[in-house]
Amino acid sequence: LVHPIIIAGGSGTRLWPVSRDTMPKQFVSLLGEGRTTFEETMLRVVGPRFAKPIVVTHSDFRFTVAEQLARNGIEADIVLEPERRDSAMAIAVATVVANLRDGDAVCLVLAADHVISDGEAFTRDCLTAAEAARGGRIMMLGIQPSWPATGYGYIAPGAPLDDSGRLFEVARFAEKPNAETAEHYIREGYSWNSGNFVFPASLMVEELTANAPDTLKAAEGAVDGAQRDLDFLRLDAERFASAPRISIDYAVMEKTARAGVLKASFGWSDVGSWDALYDIKSQDGDRNVLEGPVSVLGTTGSFVRSDEVLTTVVGLDNVVVVSTPDAVLVASKDKAAEVKTLVAKLHSEG
Ligand code: GDD
Ligand code: MG
Repeated sequence: LVHPIIIAGGSGTRLWPVSRDTMPKQFVSLLGEGRTTFEETMLRVVGPRFAKPIVVTHSDFRFTVAEQLARNGIEADIVLEPERRDSAMAIAVATVVANLRDGDAVCLVLAADHVISDGEAFTRDCLTAAEAARGGRIMMLGIQPSWPATGYGYIAPGAPLDDSGRLFEVARFAEKPNAETAEHYIREGYSWNSGNFVFPASLMVEELTANAPDTLKAAEGAVDGAQRDLDFLRLDAERFASAPRISIDYAVMEKTARAGVLKASFGWSDVGSWDALYDIKSQDGDRNVLEGPVSVLGTTGSFVRSDEVLTTVVGLDNVVVVSTPDAVLVASKDKAAEVKTLVAKLHSEG
């Protein structure tokens, strides 16, 4: 059995004002009226091949998580973080929990905020990666890059792991390069890291011991002192707080010599920003995406979305307009990723 670990504690600030600190993007229906990406993610890992999933999230989201699981009839262990410490700590905690369940557990870490076009291919690839992982690897799923994105990790494939043409050792991993380096990586044939990881729990413990011992120590302490509360496992706050704030990409993946990559066979988007979301939605004849009570005139290439308030645009091209009851965003579509900086500015202004 593969033990799914869903890390769902990120904040998704580039999708402000729909994604908020109090309701981040993975719990919001971004693709219209349908399911949230958290629900879609959970539904991909139910069935006979998978153990009971482990969801790791911030304590503030416990009822949202419980409700979205219940709505789909899914049972999970819900591990609650008292603070945000980024993905290394979230993964370390879940790895410790999985390792206590079964010393031979193979874990599949899933980001909760991705859109995947072919769910069956995704699940198949995860199980293929799990087989490769059993041979002593931390496997990543490699995506064919389509532009020199600076918000992703880049994987340099090394020697083949078999003769399938899809499984390779990782020669080098580099998280979030600058634009110039990203262009170079694309010319060199690197893949994007999809942000999902497959590994034997015991191997991740070894790699954390070698590369991120403070994270592992905090994780073991936080699980050791955890309190059961209904369906929730509430981590020990004091020991949790001693964890460094670092992502798994920097803490382990850039350093380990035991990474592998499976070239993915599914369509993937991390829908991290409004322009990325625009790209995967169906556009009208003027290349607009219009959602909710909106109307436009002489406007092209734009994403206009409103929850409630009638929102109108005249004579603009390539803009993002997102209208919620208490906040409105107007942005140039090619600057949409900078919304993250805007939100940081709003925070600093109180
Ligand atoms: N529980 C928990 N706690 N989850 C967290 C935390 C935390 O403190 N911080 C982040 N996460 C979860 C997010 O919810 C998301 O599902 C996942 O970890 C990745 O975090 P992001 O903050 O979205 O990372 P990123 O997008 O900048 O980069 C990662 O994903 C890219 C692909 O989307 C990296 O793995 C990159 O290498 C990768 O290319
Ligand atoms: Mg992300």
